[in-house]
Amino acid sequence: PRLLILGAPGAGKGTQSAKITEEFDIDHITTGDALRSNKGMDISEMETEYDTPGEYMDQGELVPDDVVNAIVDEALSQADGFVLDGYPRNLEQAEELEGMTDLDAALYLDVSDDELVHRLTGRRLDPETGDIYHVEYNPPEDPEVEARLEQRDDDTEATVNERLRVFKENTEPVIDHYDDEGLLERVDGEQAPEEVWEELRTTIENAT
Ligand code: AP5
Ligand code: ZN
Repeated sequence: PRLLILGAPGAGKGTQSAKITEEFDIDHITTGDALRSNKGMDISEMETEYDTPGEYMDQGELVPDDVVNAIVDEALSQADGFVLDGYPRNLEQAEELEGMTDLDAALYLDVSDDELVHRLTGRRLDPETGDIYHVEYNPPEDPEVEARLEQRDDDTEATVNERLRVFKENTEPVIDHYDDEGLLERVDGEQAPEEVWEELRTTIENAT
């Protein structure tokens, strides 16, 4: 399948993408992870406001479209089936994507604002495996893993608020766009991870 996973910061896109890629044996294309591995990349020749992706990310702003479009174009050219996580984030990117590939479905994880803030401030990552944890909802069992967990640079309160604002302003219109196109599949993302996954799996099976 060729899938988008849409949702606010902290909605569970990364968590559910891990399950989707395993079950359907497809690529996980995530602009957030790609940019985090290239936070210090020099993008000044693209005539951007800042010189590196990290400067946008740490403030919760979108990295310029040209930079992100190039990442996605390259990744899609090597993928057969995929779940695209974190892109498109504005209508310009959605239009760009239309020239790159067809889609089977745009999955939207719907979660309330209060829950999003709670999820983001409690999120922890395992730098060795990339696994996603939460101090309350999903703590690791192994104390060795627990000891090495890290917090993401943009999971501070101020940056979280700005990311949510940017989502409402730029990305909610993208969700409406896919709804108008008849591609949007809304899933209740506020349920426990296993329940969200059950709903997603059924939705994907029916859409492909
Ligand atoms: P990105 O990495 O895409 O971040 P985001 O969209 O803010 O989303 P998150 O990764 O924070 O959340 P998620 O939905 O993956 O949730 P997760 O599964 O981790 O982007 C980061 C930055 O990069 C952007 O701000 C921007 O600067 C730049 N960028 C990226 N793409 C771009 C683009 N296309 N254009 C321009 N700039 C771009 O879960 C969160 C927490 O909740 C975890 O602790 C998890 O354990 C827990 N959790 C998950 N599901 C549940 C559940 N069902 N119940 C309880 N807890 C749960
Ligand atoms: Zn993510």
